[in-house]
Amino acid sequence: MGMRILGWGTALPEKIVTNADLEKTLDTSDDWIVERSGIRERHIGDSTAEIAIAAGRAALDHAGVDPASIDLMILATTTPDQSVPATSAHVHQELGLSGGAFDVNAACSGFVYSLVLAHGMLGVGSRRVLLIGAETLSRLTDWSDRNTAVLFGDGGGALVLESVADEGQLISWDLGLDGSARQILEAEVGGYIKMDGREVFKRAVRVLVDSAQRTLEQAKVRPDQIKLLVPHQANIRIIQAACDRLGIEHERAALVLDRTGNTSSASIPLALVDAIEDGRLEEDDLVLLSGFGAGMTWGSALIRWQAQS
Ligand code: ACO
Repeated sequence: MGMRILGWGTALPEKIVTNADLEKTLDTSDDWIVERSGIRERHIGDSTAEIAIAAGRAALDHAGVDPASIDLMILATTTPDQSVPATSAHVHQELGLSGGAFDVNAACSGFVYSLVLAHGMLGVGSRRVLLIGAETLSRLTDWSDRNTAVLFGDGGGALVLESVADEGQLISWDLGLDGSARQILEAEVGGYIKMDGREVFKRAVRVLVDSAQRTLEQAKVRPDQIKLLVPHQANIRIIQAACDRLGIEHERAALVLDRTGNTSSASIPLALVDAIEDGRLEEDDLVLLSGFGAGMTWGSALIRWQAQS
């Protein structure tokens, strides 16, 4: 049993905050932000549920499936609207889904964790899964702290997945966590994100590369066979350093962070869908998704692109 991708969609709040806007309230500059992170602007606003509903609806419309035929929904989010109930309850009701739904918090690796989880559920009886990554990191951001305020944004992305009898599109994966590093990036309940940026940077490159390599080795695939790397969109320099170590040209990485900032669980689907809609994928292309985040978590998944997707 395997999975195939039937449709996709994204959602970004209307309001755009540019680096020039941040220059007005913070001791920072467009030059510094672009050079150190690659980010030019980010979208801010809406609740996590509103973003997830919009992205989920777009994916269902694109797939052309009846929402009632979805028998499981997984919402990857680090920024739920309430502690209880899970944000997926609101999204499930608004979209008119059937079956179960729950949230997954694996920080910025959440979408890859949820993709692998969805694959497992499709293997044990679920027929169609709606997988959404949606975040409102702006609510966890201290807008007077230049160390973090320039980095984060809000947004969402979604995939509709269906079970198939053959191997399907997910070929290999790797999930991991190093809880001893959990203090380098954290937010107390009701508090703001605090981060040791340099330490996160160093570890991010290492875990992203190691996880990507384990995923490729499992599938006996070489880095030069990868058509597209879809990395977590945190910092252009992390992405380029990881590409260099993996032996993947920078041009083969999907990028949206210049327009979105770091949207945590939403960043990989936003970058994947952007690349699909740009016509960057053809039949049988190999696509490597690779994320890292607070925890410290990491996750990679190798996908074979198929035209019916
Ligand atoms: N504008 C101007 N100057 C700034 C800013 C800013 N916004 N922020 C920091 N600086 C200053 C610092 O104070 C420091 O000044 P000093 O030399 O006088 O002390 C100087 O710039 C250099 O600071 P560094 O922290 O060394 O800058 P660095 O090149 O490491 O870039 C950054 C900082 C962008 C945060 C980088 O370390 C990074 O991207 N780290 C990873 C962050 C990340 O990926 N986080 C998300 C993880 S995913 C998740 O789970 C949410």
